[in-house]
Amino acid sequence: MRTQELVDRHGRIATDLRVSLTDRCNLRCSYCMPAEGLDWLPHEEALTDDEVVRLVGIGVERLGITEVRFTGGEPLLRRGLADIVRRTKALAPTPDVSITTNALGLERVAPTLAAAGLDRVNVSLDTVRAADFHTITRRDRLHDVIAGLRAAEAAGLTPVKVNAVLLRGINDDQAPELLAWCLERGYQLRFIEQMPLDAQHGWTREDMVTAEEILASLESEFVLTPTGTPRGSAPAEEFLVDGGPASVGVIASVTRPFCGDCDRVRLTADGQVRDCLFASTESDLRAAMRAGASDDELADRWVAAMLGKRAGHGIDDVTFLQPDRPMSAIGG
Ligand code: 5AD
Ligand code: SF4
Repeated sequence: MRTQELVDRHGRIATDLRVSLTDRCNLRCSYCMPAEGLDWLPHEEALTDDEVVRLVGIGVERLGITEVRFTGGEPLLRRGLADIVRRTKALAPTPDVSITTNALGLERVAPTLAAAGLDRVNVSLDTVRAADFHTITRRDRLHDVIAGLRAAEAAGLTPVKVNAVLLRGINDDQAPELLAWCLERGYQLRFIEQMPLDAQHGWTREDMVTAEEILASLESEFVLTPTGTPRGSAPAEEFLVDGGPASVGVIASVTRPFCGDCDRVRLTADGQVRDCLFASTESDLRAAMRAGASDDELADRWVAAMLGKRAGHGIDDVTFLQPDRPMSAIGG
């Protein structure tokens, strides 16, 4: 089998594939989508399970992908998820497989996913206060998330990671509380700066809670020491909490971009390769595949798609344009 690398013009090599399995979600996080939801992708435009597995297989077996993360929208809403995971883990060489989920329904399916070979979960949770959870997600489901986290831990989908976004005026004072909660349960917490990827295009720099603010807030209650390990392609800057061994991460996507070390590539639920969250162009593998392209041809298209990858996201440039696709249709 012919193998190639997903290398771009800046010398970065993509080995981490994010696959959005659906753009739908059962929460309505205000920094992601409006209360009424979005115009979801029509069923026929979404890749079938077989098509997903074929493209992931090309990525893993021919293009050097070593890590596959399934995202959404909410990936647990995809009926074939366990089967897709099982077939992905059967690829050679076997990739690391994880999901980014809001954990609704995870309580029930965690054992099935673990049996299918899923390695880990990243759970999105921005607050442990029920009222604020409702304010942020517009749904009253904090209990399900907590039950989902517990089930993931019990099923061995570890280390369980928690991703949190802080919103000014809502939960921006809750970083220490969230960290204490995660430490008690052995979950690895990471804060992510809010990025301009909301469907409503309502992001403003002033409203974004910066990594600096998050660290200052945490340091009011904890002693943080940088772990000192270079973050490399891992976007989180890690800090030991009170001397360790527990740690907390901060992902300063906006204020301290890590684009220079990016090793990611994304595949949308409708089969478009995106070389960046903020890409303005996509490469349509679905059309090529449905027109009868061979695996070699699809691999070549994918390689070619990487050549346009820009050096950085350019959020600070005057010419910055938020991408048409919101986060929920790209995957985190
Ligand atoms: N900025 C930063 N993080 C976001 N997420 C969703 N939208 C944004 C945004 N605009 C997070 C979710 C989840 C992951 C998929 O990305 O909270 O943890
Ligand atoms: Fe759903 Fe995630 Fe968007 Fe929240 S951030 S609405 S959980 S896709």
